[in-house]
Amino acid sequence: MPEPRWTTRAMPSQAGRLAIITGATSGIGYEAALALAGAGAEVVLAARNAAKAEGAMASIRTRHPNARLAAYPLDTARLASVQAFGDRWRAEGRSIDILLLNAGIASVPRREETEDGFERQLGTNHLGHFALTGLLLPFLHRRPSSRIVPVASLAHRSGRIHFDDPQLHHAYGPQRAYRQSKLAMLMFGLELDRRLRAVGAPIRSIPVHPGVARTDVIRRGDRAGPIQRFAGHAIFSVLGQSAADGALPLLFAATAPEAEGGAYYGPDGAWELRGHPARADIAPQAQDRAAAERLWSLSETLTGMACTV
Ligand SMILES: NC(=O)c1ccc[n+]([C@@H]2O[C@H](COP(=O)([O-])OP(=O)(O)OC[C@H]3O[C@@H](n4cnc5c(N)ncnc54)[C@H](OP(=O)(O)O)[C@@H]3O)[C@@H](O)[C@H]2O)c1
Repeated sequence: MPEPRWTTRAMPSQAGRLAIITGATSGIGYEAALALAGAGAEVVLAARNAAKAEGAMASIRTRHPNARLAAYPLDTARLASVQAFGDRWRAEGRSIDILLLNAGIASVPRREETEDGFERQLGTNHLGHFALTGLLLPFLHRRPSSRIVPVASLAHRSGRIHFDDPQLHHAYGPQRAYRQSKLAMLMFGLELDRRLRAVGAPIRSIPVHPGVARTDVIRRGDRAGPIQRFAGHAIFSVLGQSAADGALPLLFAATAPEAEGGAYYGPDGAWELRGHPARADIAPQAQDRAAAERLWSLSETLTGMACTV
């Protein structure tokens, strides 16, 4: 008998649990926040745009009037903001059950740098999350139900880490940069779980991808060129699933007792584009342990922040 397909109906009560979600103001992150709040979790929306965070919380409350929600400022593209989030959290000293590393951008047609001098997609999607994890790890409950969920992408399969030029000074391409950043998130998630196991920590790191979901990630109009906008819109309209379905692998990894640390989950449909959570394919370059350790060191050097397990 095949396992029944996982839906949010199978999600255990999240009452008494605290989830931090980066990028919860729209798309997949918003849907994850909605579902977790509906299941009783207290949800912290870590967001760079306060007005959008207020709007997201108001929207969640229309469905779940008693939802326990808070918005904390976080711009993953700014190390100063990541540090400020970490400082605030340390001052409050609260324990965390779920850390969803979801914020991301994709449509950066020409090379841009963050204020820290990082290529923008690498900085936003990976380095900010790496630093945030290092700051928040001490606050995760030491138990198997504690989850860190880095959001990667099918795009990792054609990516590589350009150790010779990680900031892509010499050969920038919007997809090249996105693939590198998402491969980095997957390698980080897998390496984090190996390190947690090595020290006997019960916390699980479980990277995921949402398949293809109809969200703002491609449609963020003014950032994408007209061809990219048209192609992105067409692909996502035809192939994409809803943002709520795209959030299922995140929710499974964050809450299902059977979700395994160090596994990678995505949709179970053809080519992993859509469907219900299942084990996903990991490209060979993402399984390269030496490269993962090198990426870890590189991320610590670039951010100047340790991620000590
Ligand atoms: N949709 C897909 O098919 C797909 C496929 C593979 C992977 N993914 C990944 O899924 C994740 C969620 O994307 P989505 O599809 O839901 O797109 P989305 O609707 O554009 O949501 C992206 C979220 O990330 C936030 N964000 C972007 N830059 C940020 C920053 N510097 N600091 C803090 N928050 C920031 C956005 O906040 P603002 O509202 O302030 O912009 C927004 O809440 C991303 O990591 C993406 O790479 C998506």
